[in-house]
Amino acid sequence: MGRAGAAAVIPGLALLWAVGLGSAAPSPPRLRLSFQELQAWHGLQTFSLERTCCYQALLVDEERGRLFVGAENHVASLNLDNISKRAKKLAWPAPVEWREECNWAGKDIGTECMNFVKLLHAYNRTHLLACGTGAFHPTCAFVEVGHRAEEPVLRLDPGRIEDGKGKSPYDPRHRAASVLVGEELYSGVAADLMGRDFTIFRSLGQRPSLRTEP
Ligand SMILES: *[C@@H]1O[C@H](CO)[C@@H](O)[C@H](O)[C@H]1NC(C)=O
Ligand SMILES: *[C@@H]1O[C@H](CO)[C@@H](O)[C@H](O)[C@H]1NC(C)=O
Repeated sequence: MGRAGAAAVIPGLALLWAVGLGSAAPSPPRLRLSFQELQAWHGLQTFSLERTCCYQALLVDEERGRLFVGAENHVASLNLDNISKRAKKLAWPAPVEWREECNWAGKDIGTECMNFVKLLHAYNRTHLLACGTGAFHPTCAFVEVGHRAEEPVLRLDPGRIEDGKGKSPYDPRHRAASVLVGEELYSGVAADLMGRDFTIFRSLGQRPSLRTEP
């Protein structure tokens, strides 16, 4: 066996050994940079929205040169070349009634009874599909983003608000895994308020909604 062969076998054995011990730790990265180091090198541009948090949904749109961001009560559209330039934001809070209901149910009005945007998908040539927790009242909407890169648009389509149950989680602490196939959304979420019933849902599109059995 040549040297290369032997070299290949040894890491293989080391890996088996590590798996055998139940501790297959990922190899450490060769280069580790702290946030401060990145900032010091000017290679980093930061963006944050006022009075919001939790940038949980990100969608890169290379065609329009935008990065769409779903956050607490907001959707933002950033310029991919320079995120400080011509950033747009859209406020999408939960209605007061939903926030009050959420508060009566014992949730915190200031931290939980908000619309945390969890899902962003490119729906068609002009619109995104966005879904959020809606203060424990999951909701989805279509966001108009326009046709062209030169004229960034960001507008909620008031004519079409969809029920977001089975699409977005209720609880801001929960995540959703989702994919849009044509006009159909497949979403893996906790489908109940308590976060115990995890299912995969198929919704939107022409066919009836469907979910996996509990
Ligand atoms: C990004 O845009 C901001 C605001 O227009 C500008 O001040 C800054 O110099 C730009 N940065 C780069 C790297 O072009
Ligand atoms: C995209 O979808 C939205 C929401 O259903 C609709 O209003 C709009 O007309 C559609 N645009 C195109 C180009 O199909």
